[in-house]
Amino acid sequence: MIFIVDFGSQTAHLIGRRVRELGSDVKIVHPEEIRQLANDKGIKGIILSGGPSSVYQKGAPTIDFQVFSLGIPILCICYGLQLMAKLLGGKVVSGRKEYGPATLKLRVESGELRIKEKKLSTFNFQLSTKLPQQFTVWMSHGDEVVELPKEFEIIGSTEHVKNAFVADEKRKIYGVQFHPEVEHTENGQQILKNFLEICSTCHPGVAATTTRLAGALAKRVGSQKKIDSIAFPQGDSLLRSGALQNDIMRIKDNIKKTTGEAYVIGAVSGGVDSTVAGTLAADAIGSRFIPIYVDNGLMRDGTREHVEKIFKNHHIKPILINVKKEMLKKLKGITDPEKKRKIIGNFYIEIFEKEMQKLLNSGKNVKYLLQGTIYSDVIESQGTKHASKIKSHHNVGGLPKKMKLKLLEPLKHLYKDEVREVGKLLDLPDEFVYKQPFPGPGYAVRIRGEVTRERLEKERKADNIVMEELRKAGLLRNIFISFPVMTDAFSTAVKGDGRFFGEVIALRVVESKDIMTSKWSHLPYDVLQKISSRIVNEVPGISRVVYDITTKPPATMEWE
Ligand code: XMP
Repeated sequence: MIFIVDFGSQTAHLIGRRVRELGSDVKIVHPEEIRQLANDKGIKGIILSGGPSSVYQKGAPTIDFQVFSLGIPILCICYGLQLMAKLLGGKVVSGRKEYGPATLKLRVESGELRIKEKKLSTFNFQLSTKLPQQFTVWMSHGDEVVELPKEFEIIGSTEHVKNAFVADEKRKIYGVQFHPEVEHTENGQQILKNFLEICSTCHPGVAATTTRLAGALAKRVGSQKKIDSIAFPQGDSLLRSGALQNDIMRIKDNIKKTTGEAYVIGAVSGGVDSTVAGTLAADAIGSRFIPIYVDNGLMRDGTREHVEKIFKNHHIKPILINVKKEMLKKLKGITDPEKKRKIIGNFYIEIFEKEMQKLLNSGKNVKYLLQGTIYSDVIESQGTKHASKIKSHHNVGGLPKKMKLKLLEPLKHLYKDEVREVGKLLDLPDEFVYKQPFPGPGYAVRIRGEVTRERLEKERKADNIVMEELRKAGLLRNIFISFPVMTDAFSTAVKGDGRFFGEVIALRVVESKDIMTSKWSHLPYDVLQKISSRIVNEVPGISRVVYDITTKPPATMEWE
């Protein structure tokens, strides 16, 4: 069992997922609990997560410093590293802020594990085993450790952060300023694997599990090669699909048991999350599941038809409700993104409760509302004790407190790529599984400022152009999400010899798998040119197009 101490990190749950993928059991705990829990004989290693606080800040989460003297290997990530440094006598300052990619250079020579500056002494830095001399890591920090506690050595640094990768090999305490758990940190999984190996040398059980699982994988892929030569992505997905198959059975069972004889209505949007959640419900309880699609005019063209197709196999016809006009009325004059989300969320629930009443009147005992909420929605809407609120995803934070329907959220613990894998295991066609995600509040959060009929039309037109051009260029497969943003910023243009002052559209195209981090897509210049020319020529009132080249972190994918 590896314990993860959660200091309010956006990625504590993701660290758990990565460790589980490597075959170890994981428990996420609060900082206040760890000293007590560390007495547990089952504990093989501790990972301190990142977090939004500053270690010297009043009320910042902390742990009992004696945890570092228990002889349990500890990996300290980001805030965890800063806290460890503070507690053990180092110094942390509010440093140069860094969000997104950085190049980590190791001080150890490849393979030799020998520190160049100290030619005669060799250190066996187990955490850097099998890492290349330099690679890209992802950062997300404002503070920085400037003085390490005694006994610590630097394994690697980035241009701006000297103490980016550090170790006290004697006490088996390690620190990384970057995030090994996120998909865009190269070799992140190898670092976590190395840490688990270290835990296993202290506590033999851990490596045995990892090796056993890897061995089982080797058999499943029919490979005679040594375990280490199995590529992680392949191993990951095999391991995961086994776990996800079990998850599918458990979820269906749970839906059946929880709902008994009651009916469930489901909010379906045509997106992969609600499609997968709906399919699981339809498999579990058949026609006692009633999908509802609310056409609020904020969705992409073709969504309604798409929804109609989804449940055909189950012979279930979704209820389709058109509230386009009412939606625009409710959004009139509203410019604050959180207000928009709340209004849309409240309106949804109003509609669903009305539908529930109609169904109750017709003799159907409706008690539950099914939603395709996934883990990234939960954490961004402040899902854990010390976490910051990023935004209210309307299917989590945007729901009214007093809701008559009980919520069913069977995918709440899964990431986007896992949901897609569940979709594939359920034999859903690729057009459903690989559809681009689309936010619940739809175009309302892609139009900065007020949502009017005219601006909605412009957004829709531009969105169709972007999609068409990306599809024509054969680029959609690697793109996680693509969209134009009506920025509410204005600029000058010259159209047909006349001055024209129009709105600026920002184009956002990003690559990601699990949503927690993303890179902007390096689209070919000619595709960018085509999109830009078509938007300024074909969408009325647009003066220019800019391309958003910001990673997540720091920027979220959506603008609002
Ligand atoms: P961000 O902007 O948080 O986007 O990096 C991550 C994913 O979440 C979607 N998203 C939302 N979905 N309500 C939703 O239902 C929201 O308010 C919302 N904001 C972002 C976004 O489209 C992307 O897939």
